[in-house]
Amino acid sequence: GRRVTIRDLAQAKERGEKWPMLTAYDAMTARAFDRAGVPVLLVGDSAAMVVYGYDSTLPVTVDDLLPLTAAVVRGSSRALVVADLPFGSYQASPAQALETSARFMKEAGAHAIKLEGGRRVLPQVELLVSAGVPVMGHLGLTPQSVNALGGYRVQGRGQSGDELMADAKDLERAGAFAVVLECVPAELAERVTTSLSIPTIGIGAGDATDAQVLVWQDMMGLTEHPAKFVKAYGTLAADLDRAARAFSDEVVSGAFPSAEHTYT
Ligand code: KIV
Ligand code: NA
Repeated sequence: GRRVTIRDLAQAKERGEKWPMLTAYDAMTARAFDRAGVPVLLVGDSAAMVVYGYDSTLPVTVDDLLPLTAAVVRGSSRALVVADLPFGSYQASPAQALETSARFMKEAGAHAIKLEGGRRVLPQVELLVSAGVPVMGHLGLTPQSVNALGGYRVQGRGQSGDELMADAKDLERAGAFAVVLECVPAELAERVTTSLSIPTIGIGAGDATDAQVLVWQDMMGLTEHPAKFVKAYGTLAADLDRAARAFSDEVVSGAFPSAEHTYT
């Protein structure tokens, strides 16, 4: 079968069908999520934290993310793969944004890109769209701006909700095919969702958005101190701990390997 396209996602909104998005950073998780039917995989710059161990998304580079993106493309056959543009790789100019996006598409095979911000990145969005690059927006809590926002906190309460709505409408007008709404009040996310014809993808944005996204380590219960909006559908932290202890114990005791796991 063919890959999911941005057209499929637009049609899902017209039909009122909700869909999931998950992050992926390697081939094996990409294959698992692809087989499960997840239509969109995001190679998030959250890799900075969950893959590379930084304490924010700011330090990760294009060169860090390109091989992860290529692995996710190779591991999947049906999902649309979206590459997150890292901090500093697109803000300087539309030309910089196109150069970076072209690297993700040519060198890693990404099908779309995501960037953070509203009106301040409209020239970037317009050039990318005119060049044939599908663009996903990202509003609300934009982690690349954590130092300007004063921490990881809910965005769009009170008057700033109107600004977020204006940003969302401008992104749509500039040609974005979808927009992530992160950590915003459910009521605001619902108003944005009904006001836009492009799909909204919520994370910590309530139940009214057209789609929902989670970082897969959060979804699987691997993250130590998950945010309020995270639901764990697995117990991977406990599973890994249990398995690593059991393996260690059996190596020390000599119970592993037994005859069953031995060549004669
Ligand atoms: O980097 C990321 O994982 C993201 C999602 C949380 C939307 O941007
Ligand atoms: Na991100």
